[in-house]
Amino acid sequence: MKRPVRIAVTGAAGGISRSLLFRIAAGDMFGKDQPVILQLLEMPECMESLRGVAMELEDCAFPLLHTISMHSCVEDGFNSVHFALLIGATPRGPGMERSDLLTLNAEIFSKQGKVLNDVANRDVKVLVVGNPANTNALIASRNAPDLSPSQFTALTRLDHNRCKGILANKTGANVDDISNVIVWGNHSKTMYPDLYHASIYAHPALKQIDQTWYHEHYIPKIQNRGSEIITAQGRSSCVSAAQAIIEHMRDWYLGTSKGEYVSMGIISDGSYGITPGIVFSFPVRCNYGRYQIVQGLEINEFSRNALTLSENELLSERDVIKNLLPESTKEAHENLSICLRSGVTLYADGTGPKDKETYLQTDRVL
Ligand code: NAD
Ligand code: LMR
Repeated sequence: MKRPVRIAVTGAAGGISRSLLFRIAAGDMFGKDQPVILQLLEMPECMESLRGVAMELEDCAFPLLHTISMHSCVEDGFNSVHFALLIGATPRGPGMERSDLLTLNAEIFSKQGKVLNDVANRDVKVLVVGNPANTNALIASRNAPDLSPSQFTALTRLDHNRCKGILANKTGANVDDISNVIVWGNHSKTMYPDLYHASIYAHPALKQIDQTWYHEHYIPKIQNRGSEIITAQGRSSCVSAAQAIIEHMRDWYLGTSKGEYVSMGIISDGSYGITPGIVFSFPVRCNYGRYQIVQGLEINEFSRNALTLSENELLSERDVIKNLLPESTKEAHENLSICLRSGVTLYADGTGPKDKETYLQTDRVL
């Protein structure tokens, strides 16, 4: 048996976690040979409800579930964790935009960034799910000066999966026969579901579907899917969000399938002309526990306008919470190219860009 890994989950008694935790404990996230320690965090008033979730986990008798601990104190909950899933935050209700949650949830992520900086494993991988996920991830990362910005990511995999599912339904293909859809930008209604590089049965997707359907139906459908679900069921997505979290972390840790792109919200290193230092969803490939932006894709005028729209929205969001972004971490976030392209984490061990010559820099295609 391998040594167990420590996974912190915030909002552990909430809707998403009630689906997610059982799948992590079953080995769906890190593999059927990887024992897990679950460090569950909740608000003090939800600890009793969390105890119920923990008892149910125990009653499943999962062989990979090594330990469960429950915390309302962040410092204890994040202690030594290898993975942190930051889910705990207020969700939006009907008629709201995710950005309406910005000021409500922002403080949670500045505090959690600071605590991860102080007590987590130095190689911790962080996924921010609580909305607005991109900007919350930025807040957490900017408050963790001793971790690398590349250790902080935001969930756009749900949008990526929606792209595949809805395209499969339209064309009659199996989702496995669809490759390289991309979601660019913000997890908001400005996100850009890009099919210009996608294929179905290894042939260009856009040659197999009607262009008007793509522009007028498909793109807005993906962009508004979260709201459509809230309207239909009275609360935001849970099971599909849990599935996306599993896949995001699994791919990051264990690697993406050969040749396949996935979408991840990551700190921009300036690739594709996107402002460095904001959390933007890019196409990536993962291997060796790292991700790398897929480079060299052609961006046509339609795509460029869509990318710019989402980038501008993220810049406005950043402006709203600028009081939570310490000046001292600005440079590290705006000078990331080596970090993201070579797979070397420059900042995690305390070295900065000045020391980059000490690394063998590869531009290895994963
Ligand atoms: P929920 O309301 O069912 O559960 C949230 C839980 O978080 C609650 O139990 C609450 O007590 C807890 N919580 C709140 N603040 C906390 C804190 N500081 N520390 C620890 N726990 C805390 O909500 P949910 O459906 O699980 O959704 C959680 C968040 O995820 C929402 O912000 C939602 O909008 C977002 N979300 C994002 C995506 C995505 O794709 N990025 C998808 C679905 C939901
Ligand atoms: C989603 O995309 O389903 C989530 O972000 C929840 C929401 O508010 O839409």
